[in-house]
Amino acid sequence: MTLTGFYDIIKPQQNSENLYKIKENIMLITRPPMGWNSWNTFAENITEDLIKETADALVDKGLADIGYKYVVIDDCWALMERDADGRLVPDPKKFPSGMKALADYIHSKGLKFGIYSCDGYKTCAGYPGSYGYEYIDAKTFADWGVDYLKYDNCNKPDVEGRLLYNRMSMALKASGRDIVFSACNWGTEDSDSWIRSVGAHLYRSTGDIFDNYNNYANLMIDQITRNHPSAPGCFNDLDMLITGIYGKGHVSMGVYSCTEEIYRMHFLTWCFYGSPLMIGCDIRNVDDASLALFKNEALVRLAQDAEARPPFLVQRGPYWYTMLRHLEDGEYAIAYINIDDNDMTLDCDFANFGLGEETGLAFDFVDLMSGEQMKNVSGGLSLRLDGRSCRILRGRVHAKA
Ligand code: GLA
Repeated sequence: MTLTGFYDIIKPQQNSENLYKIKENIMLITRPPMGWNSWNTFAENITEDLIKETADALVDKGLADIGYKYVVIDDCWALMERDADGRLVPDPKKFPSGMKALADYIHSKGLKFGIYSCDGYKTCAGYPGSYGYEYIDAKTFADWGVDYLKYDNCNKPDVEGRLLYNRMSMALKASGRDIVFSACNWGTEDSDSWIRSVGAHLYRSTGDIFDNYNNYANLMIDQITRNHPSAPGCFNDLDMLITGIYGKGHVSMGVYSCTEEIYRMHFLTWCFYGSPLMIGCDIRNVDDASLALFKNEALVRLAQDAEARPPFLVQRGPYWYTMLRHLEDGEYAIAYINIDDNDMTLDCDFANFGLGEETGLAFDFVDLMSGEQMKNVSGGLSLRLDGRSCRILRGRVHAKA
């Protein structure tokens, strides 16, 4: 392993004149990234044909147009051994044309190319990890045209996670290419308190999602208290979407328990939390209902809200939650989430916002899924929801008409 030539790849210093200019666009990403990731459906069964067909599908089905730009290859793409110079080698059986050619193809479609590595000696699936090779790997990824790195957290040395993530973050910055750094340490080692400071652009604070209701619901509720560091420049990532998998994915584990309604609830809640939206199903063969959800402009706009504020809990019952999220342009979203099997009445008392009836102020809402308008809603709003469902209202406060 050699770092010869390393200093050549560090970007030149800004000259002193530039130091005093206010840069308009200092952040690599200003909205949570959107795209597709290979893991949830394909795991180790990845090939360059699959990735190219997926890129084609993102464009042909109109997903790229509304923001699904990142095509991310997850674990299992490399050979088990590095080359003589210590570089990672793509498995030639899976990627016979190599990663540069694949990146060129993805870029030719107007999309961005993402890849995966890990802060340990080996990745979670046992392929070579980047520990001790951070600067070589970052340079290799830059040479290939990588735009996004998902960085996992398995098989680690006895080194603090914040140091391991910081190493790769600095290596990416030295690589000569803008590469989005997607940190995936599942919220361990108190990462809420350091993940922004190591330069991550997004951070996974959840364990792995699986294609079943209980796993999804637990993960979503757990995030009520994990979402606070999420802000422009470093977004909380609730994990890749399971919507549309219908038991056909690696993360289905042979146990399939999601309906169209649950996939809708999952997508709605991910948008409400402002999570990155990484599709996890086989979008070459996506069903119409899932595709329509992914392309729902009102929901995508919510997920991509410019202020990127996390929601907070307003009220809760044994198995239900109402939450408020501040949005751009003085608007708000209120989510009603019923995780119980049975239908239930959920309350949101506007006195919690200082907006009792006596104020003469009211909300005008639109239901983001059904499009139903609700005008002059004052004092509070209780809604009856089916078991395992969610409604999201978007609106603003005004003097009651
Ligand atoms: C971990 C991650 C998953 C996926 C696998 C790959 O479990 O959390 O998202 O990347 O590793 O091995």
